[in-house]
Amino acid sequence: MKIGKFETKNNLFLSPMAGYTDVAMRYLCKKFGAGLTTTEMVSAKGLVYDSEKTKWLLNMSPLEDIKVVQLFGHEPDVFVKAIQNDVLKDFDIIDINMGCPAPKIVKNGEGSFLMTNPKLAYEIVKACVNATTKPITVKMRLGYEKNNAVEFAKVLQSAGASAICVHGRLKTQGYSGKADYEEIAKVKQAVKIPVIANGDVVDKASYQNILEITKADAVSIGRASVGNPHIFADILNLDIPYNKLETIKEQYEMLLKYYDEHFVITTMRKHIVGYIKGKNLSQEIKLKLVTSNDINEIINILNDIFKN
Ligand SMILES: Cc1cc2nc3c(=O)[nH]c(=O)nc-3n(C[C@H](O)[C@H](O)[C@H](O)COP(=O)(O)O)c2cc1C
Repeated sequence: MKIGKFETKNNLFLSPMAGYTDVAMRYLCKKFGAGLTTTEMVSAKGLVYDSEKTKWLLNMSPLEDIKVVQLFGHEPDVFVKAIQNDVLKDFDIIDINMGCPAPKIVKNGEGSFLMTNPKLAYEIVKACVNATTKPITVKMRLGYEKNNAVEFAKVLQSAGASAICVHGRLKTQGYSGKADYEEIAKVKQAVKIPVIANGDVVDKASYQNILEITKADAVSIGRASVGNPHIFADILNLDIPYNKLETIKEQYEMLLKYYDEHFVITTMRKHIVGYIKGKNLSQEIKLKLVTSNDINEIINILNDIFKN
């Protein structure tokens, strides 16, 4: 798929996830075949006013051939200052979050709340498009409380967005129910810019299903990649050797290159929950894995779990 002048290697992408899609996860997903990865959402205001504090989210993995940063905010001028900030100079594409349902985001008029204000969404995209030659893309939902996805997507297109990713749920649905692929299909039919379809893809069958129904240009996977970065190779039939334990160790080691041990342990706990899914483990072992502050102890337990 093409986003501006950037051509992705395939049409299966990693969806941004705050607290998950850090530099190490993106590295692993690229290694196992993801066509495009994006940072977790980064505060545009944070970059403008407190860049030191927000900068740690901007680390890039060596495999990311196309570098995408996702920003959230609600003020066009702040977005412009953020994308003109030197810390974003190495990024190729700027993605704007108009889909996040988290209370602390929507209460500031950001994330999915922007879907209630297409005029402001237009101004944000237009201001960003005018301020840079980099493609501006948007991540959206079907709507806030009611579905306005088609009209909203047309507004984004007219403001100059280079692509949109549509998560097939309303904000008020959070992550409940099922993503509505028919509604994503309507968006795809209504706009000329590339559309990335998103929601509930967990395997090859669901990937084929979302593509067939939506006719989207690409698909992005979020939750199903946590603890399973190899999902991209599985779906795309890529022959890339995968050893779960080695992958977990690689993830630890990479995170330790960038972050302190406390951050690494708390981050890895969330991923380990994904890696051990389906394993029949005692409560005691599970508890140790998510409470231990000793990386060596955690690795020893994982060695035992995955030795067979
Ligand atoms: C823990 C978590 C964090 C997320 N953070 C972001 C984010 O920072 N930016 C964003 O656009 N979407 C975010 N999302 C939404 C996902 O990108 C995706 O749209 C959603 O999970 C649906 O796709 P899935 O069914 O493949 O998980 C997040 C989702 C989860 C579960």
